[in-house]
Amino acid sequence: MTTATGTVTHPIQLTERINRIEPSATMAAVAEAEKLRQSGFDVVDMTAGEPHFMTPEHIKEAAIAAVRANFSRYTPVGGTTELKDAIIQRHATDFGSHYKREETCASVGGKHALFNVISVLVDHGDEVILPVPYWVSFKDMVRYVGGTCVLLKADETQGFRVTAQMIERLITPKTKLIILNSPSNPSGAVMSPADMTEVVRLAHERGIWVISDECYVYLNYTGHDFSVGSLNEYRDRFLVVGSLSKTYAMTGWRLGYTLGPTAVVGAVQKLQSQQTSNPTSIVQKAGTAALSGSQQCLWEMKEEYRRLRDHIVNGLRTIPGVACTMPQGAFYAFPNVSTFIGKSGIKCSADIAHGLLHKAHVATVAGEGFGTTEHVRLSYATAAENIDKALERMRGYFAAL
Ligand SMILES: Cc1ncc(COP(=O)(O)O)c(C=O)c1O
Repeated sequence: MTTATGTVTHPIQLTERINRIEPSATMAAVAEAEKLRQSGFDVVDMTAGEPHFMTPEHIKEAAIAAVRANFSRYTPVGGTTELKDAIIQRHATDFGSHYKREETCASVGGKHALFNVISVLVDHGDEVILPVPYWVSFKDMVRYVGGTCVLLKADETQGFRVTAQMIERLITPKTKLIILNSPSNPSGAVMSPADMTEVVRLAHERGIWVISDECYVYLNYTGHDFSVGSLNEYRDRFLVVGSLSKTYAMTGWRLGYTLGPTAVVGAVQKLQSQQTSNPTSIVQKAGTAALSGSQQCLWEMKEEYRRLRDHIVNGLRTIPGVACTMPQGAFYAFPNVSTFIGKSGIKCSADIAHGLLHKAHVATVAGEGFGTTEHVRLSYATAAENIDKALERMRGYFAAL
């Protein structure tokens, strides 16, 4: 094309692949809240998908020591032996798993690990069973690699329960993978060990893969800590994806991992060798310190999250028209706000999130990004005073509808 000034321009033609996906809904919500704050409004931000704690001192010290010791070269693609051993040992101690180094790969965050596992397992035309509500990125990762998501509505009346029987009804000859995420972002639902075992047993029997996203596995308030990784008899059909982001308040450091059969983990490493190579060397040292050091910090953070959870859920439940399932893990409340649909021109939860932001200056994430039109997500990884402020403003907003 030639412009009026005579410059020749060419249309930008991106791949069909990139046009299949959307930007992350949570990141978009964070950006919109930030824009409002920049214009001078006092916005209570409940969007954050990350701990409000600082990274513990001993982890930071390990990184500083690594910098001083010039630990600045490439490492093996899937992480140092030291880090792999720390991942394996931590998981074995906490969940009774038995992984070897060749069954372990460290990546640049849990998101990276998930993207890589999905890339090596899902082909064009494959079906992936995905419980709703789902974490925003699963759907787009599956789409990006050419797969199709088969959505399964979790039973909200039973704490967003997903069972093997519900999954079994959706299995077809094209089903390649089931994605589990317990504790769940956004609902906070925790699958019981019995329900999880049944799903993995079913997948094993049918020759289907399971990815268990366990990024919030240490934020489980049921008293029954559980990882699929302990189910040794089915181990050739599932992968565990973990992350240090939420566990140790290390979101910006970017360190996650995959545990699973050698053939799949080897393929993940092959992909990673042509992509990012190793996670940052210094971060690997910090991660090793996090995993092999005292876990006291983790218990302290978990206790605080539990206190904040009770505070926000009890508060939400006093707002007329708002119903909120008690989340059993992670750090999100996922109230059902469907009673307001139809009032004051509201059609869906995106309208409610929009109204909450622009009229009450409370930033939440609309349910649409998680596959529902009836909920909004609030992160309670924040100070109790912010929660109080958000609750008061929400009460006013809903009362005025
Ligand atoms: C369910 C779930 N899985 C994976 C991730 C990725 O975490 P990270 O890439 O920081 O390890 C997140 C982050 O929000 C998440 O909520």
